[in-house]
Amino acid sequence: MKKLYSFIDFIVNKISLYTFNPYLPGRVKDFIGYTQLKKNKHLYRNKTADHAYEFNLNGYSDFRKNNAAILDCSNIAEIFRPYLEKCKLIGYENDIDKPYFYNILREDLDHEAYNKFLEIGNNNNLLDTLRTDFGELVFVGGGIFRSKANILGKKLIGSQKWHLDRFSLKCFKLFVNLSDISESMGPTEVLDSKVTWKLLYNGLIKKILGVKKARNLKNGLFIDQKRFDRELSNKKIDNIGPIGTGLLANTGLCLHRGSLNKSFQDRYVLLLHYCLWDRYVENQEKLNKDISTGIWTRFIKKLG
Ligand SMILES: [Fe+2]
Repeated sequence: MKKLYSFIDFIVNKISLYTFNPYLPGRVKDFIGYTQLKKNKHLYRNKTADHAYEFNLNGYSDFRKNNAAILDCSNIAEIFRPYLEKCKLIGYENDIDKPYFYNILREDLDHEAYNKFLEIGNNNNLLDTLRTDFGELVFVGGGIFRSKANILGKKLIGSQKWHLDRFSLKCFKLFVNLSDISESMGPTEVLDSKVTWKLLYNGLIKKILGVKKARNLKNGLFIDQKRFDRELSNKKIDNIGPIGTGLLANTGLCLHRGSLNKSFQDRYVLLLHYCLWDRYVENQEKLNKDISTGIWTRFIKKLG
């Protein structure tokens, strides 16, 4: 069955690539998710905590309209300050191949912080609010992500290029600054869903008409450079700001990227990820081998 899903995934991605229909993979995967796949019970660990974590959801009405907004999450950031200090103190390192964004939240390092993370993911006002507006959602993971300092002169790769997350059209990610983040630290950048739709609309026709394609876009997306520059200068939002700044985006509908950290400070971000269903399509085999790449893989490990 898994092989069949991988095959469907491959075909759908190819069709999407050649027709410039960037929403197709998410749509198909959501459909399969609804009809075929059961949600994994293990994702509900700590779901029974007796209180919801408060967020200041002032920016939320914006979010409903545009699928991207800034929220005040200083109370959540505060909870993970000790964990971060511990990591810095012991010089915790982790040699994976994605230095621009990797997870350093580990259960064996601090059981309490790890459980806190699960508890918050499953028990917060945000999850309830999202469910009220967008229907059923599950907490699918995240972690504490470090982007190493002083990555200079490297070519943009992977999620540093503008892209959509293609595993669902309902893919909500909350990025909470655990460092003060400046322009040079490679903030996460987002264009809201309306702007994204406008830019991506009729990609195939633009390609046929020979429109000049914008730089730093992932394959399968096609946007005219001039229009892209114009929207970026007017409409881009990012998580530049002090500790506790929260950026919430539906990354299945909003173009986004995490850029290079050119500063001399490591950048730390807490990430909580909600989705319509858990992500069978992402490269699970590869992730399974590396316990450090994300909280998601550790759930899999626990299941054995
Ligand atoms: Fe992404």
